[in-house]
Amino acid sequence: MERQIKSDLNFLYKADKLYFLVIKYRGARCCFVISLLITLLILSYPLKADNLLELSVEDLKHAEQFYIGNLRAAPKDLTNRVVNKPAAIQLGRVLFFDEKLSANSLVSCATCHIPEKNFQDNRKVAFGLDSGLRRTMPIEGAQWAPWLFWDGRKDSLWSQALGPLEDQKEHGATRSQLAVYVLKNYGFEYRSVFPAEIPDFSAWPERASPIVPGDASDNWMLLSAQTRHQINTVFANIGKMIAAYEGTLLPQVNRFDLYIESKLAGMRSNSELLSVDELDGFRLFVGKAKCDSCHQGPRFTDDFFHNTGIPNSEGRAPDLGRFMAMAKVVADPFNCKGKYSDALPKSCEELEYMQKDARQFIGAFKTPSLRAVSSRSPYMHAGQYASLKDVVAHYVTAPDSFAGSVANYNNPYGRVSEIQPVILNEKEQAQLVAFLKTL
Ligand code: HEC
Ligand code: HEC
Repeated sequence: MERQIKSDLNFLYKADKLYFLVIKYRGARCCFVISLLITLLILSYPLKADNLLELSVEDLKHAEQFYIGNLRAAPKDLTNRVVNKPAAIQLGRVLFFDEKLSANSLVSCATCHIPEKNFQDNRKVAFGLDSGLRRTMPIEGAQWAPWLFWDGRKDSLWSQALGPLEDQKEHGATRSQLAVYVLKNYGFEYRSVFPAEIPDFSAWPERASPIVPGDASDNWMLLSAQTRHQINTVFANIGKMIAAYEGTLLPQVNRFDLYIESKLAGMRSNSELLSVDELDGFRLFVGKAKCDSCHQGPRFTDDFFHNTGIPNSEGRAPDLGRFMAMAKVVADPFNCKGKYSDALPKSCEELEYMQKDARQFIGAFKTPSLRAVSSRSPYMHAGQYASLKDVVAHYVTAPDSFAGSVANYNNPYGRVSEIQPVILNEKEQAQLVAFLKTL
């Protein structure tokens, strides 16, 4: 009896152990299956993210057009024979930073074009001797631009530089004052760039210019044609040296370039270079937002003028942009065809073939580059928008322009700006902003 009980107990003990084993095994299997699922899930996440980080062949083709490695050498500026001359670059650099080239000895080009700030100043409108009407433009890469200023009223970098020097809200100087100052203080360096004789400037008046009103204009009227020509020559040469220096200011490599570079080298995408949202932003930029219809190529600009319906600055007379500039560039004595240009008139193709019907350009401004754009708030020609979020919101709503181009009165929506609303939800708008910040 006792044995029977013992063997039963033994059996029960064994069965219990077996049952326990089964439970344990089942538990393990269950655990195994669950952990396998979790592992797969964890593994599949980066795989999924990785796929989103890859551009399709077509997107990559789109992306390549923006790659800095595809930026062709800047077109040779035939209007400026000293553009690559080291002595010109050197003196041009000094002049760019010299505050003595102003009415109060306090304003230089670098007052507004601050090197640490991508050669701009983060102000809504510039401030030199007084407050101006437009925002300071960045100048890295300006040597590629056929037209200078927001409205393109200048057709070369050297001729552009002459503008602020005599602008009474910027440097406030006069050309005779500048010519005398440079010949007196940098005579040796000047001669090494322009070896011809330095003219006798002892009798030149301190203030004389055909475009600065008041005594400066009066004094100019009294000068002989020869003296005027001599002063203009030195004045133009100052511009040419500054332009030579500006030619060394190149667009910077950005994160988007590094991403494209890695793709072109056949590397897999790396979320440290660009996030999924930033890439989605790029897809929108070249996709349904159609930003690349104007912001094209490695400099993100078509070098053309568009009315994009940016509101006029509050309380200011309407700024009609390119419309007002076309006659100015044609009449400018310092343009490509003028006598201070080093180009043969037949090589002035931009000026020659410029579209002549100004009415198409009412309220149109130059498409700005988007390189380093996130560091350059506020945005647009008079700093109308404080942030990139506001800029993208502008393209989403596409408000009517305050002044429309005649050509656009014919479009089916009857809108007077060139752009149509882009349909983007909040997330997409944020992605577009994220992409702009990679530039
Ligand atoms: C008071 C501030 C101020 C000063 C000083 C100043 N600029 Fe500017 N710069 C501006 C503003 C504002 C614009 C745009 C003006 C416009 O479109 O009417 C501009 C535009 C430019 C552009 C055109 C860039 C482009 O892409 O079209 C260049 C180049 C430039 N400046 C170079 C210079 C040089 C060289 C000097 C010195 C000789 C100078 N600036 C002095 C404010 C200034
Ligand atoms: C029809 C041509 C055109 C299209 C399309 C276009 N832009 Fe622009 N963009 C411009 C012009 C022109 C300006 C300057 C307008 C002004 O100041 O009046 C500008 C200005 C900007 C600026 C401000 C840059 C600065 O330095 O002030 C940003 C940012 C910008 N655009 C981004 C975009 C994005 C994003 C898209 C797509 C949603 C887009 N653009 C579509 C022509 C265009």
